[in-house]
Amino acid sequence: MSIEFDIRLSDHRTPADERERLLENPGFGQIFTDHMITIRWDAEHGWHDARLEAYAPLTLDPATAVFHYAQELFEGLKAYRRADDGSIVAFRPYANAARFNASCERMAMPPVPEETFVRSLELLVDADRDWVPTQEGHSLYLRPFIIATQRGLGVNSPSSSYLFIVIASPSAAYFTGGIKPVSVWLSEEYTRAAPGGTGAAKCGGNYAAAFVAQAQAVKEGCDQVVWLDANEHRWVEEMGGMNLFFVYGSGAEARVMTPSLTGTLLPGITRDSLLKLAPDLGVPAAEGRISTDQWREGNASGELTEVFACGTAAVITPVGRVKSAKGEWLIGSGEPGPVTMRLREELVGIQYGDRPDPYGWIHKIA
Ligand code: PLP
Ligand code: COI
Repeated sequence: MSIEFDIRLSDHRTPADERERLLENPGFGQIFTDHMITIRWDAEHGWHDARLEAYAPLTLDPATAVFHYAQELFEGLKAYRRADDGSIVAFRPYANAARFNASCERMAMPPVPEETFVRSLELLVDADRDWVPTQEGHSLYLRPFIIATQRGLGVNSPSSSYLFIVIASPSAAYFTGGIKPVSVWLSEEYTRAAPGGTGAAKCGGNYAAAFVAQAQAVKEGCDQVVWLDANEHRWVEEMGGMNLFFVYGSGAEARVMTPSLTGTLLPGITRDSLLKLAPDLGVPAAEGRISTDQWREGNASGELTEVFACGTAAVITPVGRVKSAKGEWLIGSGEPGPVTMRLREELVGIQYGDRPDPYGWIHKIA
């Protein structure tokens, strides 16, 4: 059972014409809706003081734990407006709830009951339903997160109090310019995650430590960084905010492989969805591993035909060019491949309601 929420609707909502103007060209994660969810936790009361309230800045003591030791983690999922009947749905919110709680466990934070997590999303999306975009390919990106709120600089134990928040951001595609293949830089210098570390958790610290490598990728003329394993800097793990899929063969012989969940990469919900959908479309799917040499050689021999990245924000984005300190190569013709595009069409079709939903992934927001 979910806890009771105190509903405090904003008395200064964005006027409709202003909202419509913002929705024309929202970008990604740049504009926010009128409300947010907040729920507090402490050992005495557990989760309590749950509210839907006006989106507003937080006031926190400079000694608040999150600012110093980064005890923080987040989730990302989307609500979609269906073209046929205008109804609003979320994609696999219980999967995000489960991953949120797995991250909480790794970060020594209290789990949020799944029902409360999903109820938070429902309440926020319902209050701000006018903010769910109608434009094709746009959606309302939902960002649940939790921060440590204890005041003090001691580092011998986790925070004794926490704040769970959900904010919502109407968003266009993460990558601009349509379904344009991205170029990637293989980072042999920096490591995102090591065995026993936090790579499988969606904690902010993973992203903080990644900016320097992402900047290096850009300096090398690439769009995104690809992370390799920490031990050998040889086995491909994932991208900055996306998992990777490799397509071998073509036509009826095509099959896909994505790096196994070794504990050092994020268990993407899009990744999991594609592992189920691809076989339904006649494309066998497996988890496995691929080294940077195998990537280059597979490409050269023609055995490896397509590569794509996948994630909530990025949906499915083809990878067109790879660069490392040792050289660079194009994948196929550098254009989006047919398997990539077929999987994308199916996934997006389920999310926007143009395709049947065989696994019950669609969650209606009443
Ligand atoms: N890997 C990382 C590091 C991410 O930040 C994300 C985005 O959430 C993903 C993979 C893809 O996960 P999902 O498909 O659940 O969005
Ligand atoms: C997402 O796809 O939800 C992400 O979290 C990726 C990025 C914006 C951090």
